[in-house]
Amino acid sequence: GKNGYRHYMEKELHEHPIVIGQTLRRFVDPSSHKIILPHMPFDLSTLKRGIITACGSAFYAGLIGRYWLEEYARLPIDIDVASEMRYRNPPVESQGMGLVISQSGETADTLAALRNLKNEHQKIVSILNNEFSTIARESDVVLGTDAGVEIAVASTKAFTAQLTVLSCLTLVIAREKNKITPENKKVCLTALMDLPSRVAEVLQMKDKIQEIAHKIANAQSVIYLGRGIMYPVAMEGALKLKEISYIHADAYAAGEMKHGPIALIDQTVPVIAVVPSGFLFEKTLSNLQEAKARGGHIIAFTDAKGAEALSTIAEQIIILPTVHAFVAPILYTVPVQMLAYEAAILKGTDVDQPRNLAKSVTVE
Ligand code: M6R
Repeated sequence: GKNGYRHYMEKELHEHPIVIGQTLRRFVDPSSHKIILPHMPFDLSTLKRGIITACGSAFYAGLIGRYWLEEYARLPIDIDVASEMRYRNPPVESQGMGLVISQSGETADTLAALRNLKNEHQKIVSILNNEFSTIARESDVVLGTDAGVEIAVASTKAFTAQLTVLSCLTLVIAREKNKITPENKKVCLTALMDLPSRVAEVLQMKDKIQEIAHKIANAQSVIYLGRGIMYPVAMEGALKLKEISYIHADAYAAGEMKHGPIALIDQTVPVIAVVPSGFLFEKTLSNLQEAKARGGHIIAFTDAKGAEALSTIAEQIIILPTVHAFVAPILYTVPVQMLAYEAAILKGTDVDQPRNLAKSVTVE
């Protein structure tokens, strides 16, 4: 049942802390704090490339994984949505890592892209919530996300579980390739272990999120902005809003606004910025200033330090716990998913079963 929550989606949102913790316990040895993965079909220390494919939210998890793997493990990554990847025929060196991400493990396009990658002699590592699925059977290694059954069509906890696995995979490859110092690895791992508590704090911010939901519920269109690793978080926010509230939303890399999308901005278009302090904060800030100068109504998700700098630019600021940059995309996902949920409540839509959508897309 829904355990007293209004919808399965709300119940599943509240499972974020437990699911992140469970998934971490699966891969992190409690005494040595060493990340232990199942046996990999290649030598991680000499691995040269990765190619990632998935659909929908799982694809956004993959985009975040790309930033992590490139930044921390210095592993070159190619990535595309499975419906494109399966017809793209990219040149791939054999013995690379084909990384496939799927909650259900049954998505038709993802499965087809996996088969193509296998034909190109990639070893398939899949990140799956259903370890008894078709994709699981066809993979060389399965990294399980311990998210439990996800019933709402809009994915929530499975997404943060995918990110948790990707963060562990990144740290292991970074370690094997000698691209991260033991100290830095420890800092990242500590931040991950601390995440369930930080996420639980965010889940307490329902009233504040409801206030924001009121600001966007009557909009025709909402723009989400982020830069770097927060750009896919903006995409996740926009997709969730579209799926369950039926409000048009799009995500842009904030620096790309001036190349076109800024023409959309006026007082009627809420601009939601996903912008923790730190790397790229100043850059995003000036992009927001440009939007504000065109009458844009700025709503910012940031931390205490970011809030100070945003106080004259944003009309609403949601101050999230301050966390290490490594785990910020996981933390910031939670309030954007909550916002979509609260907006959908105001719209009175069928939140768990939105129109035209299926939980698992088993046809092309
Ligand atoms: O089962 P999968 O993870 O392969 O599903 C992929 C997408 O269909 C899925 O993430 C979809 O985008 C969700 N409805 C997003 O909330």
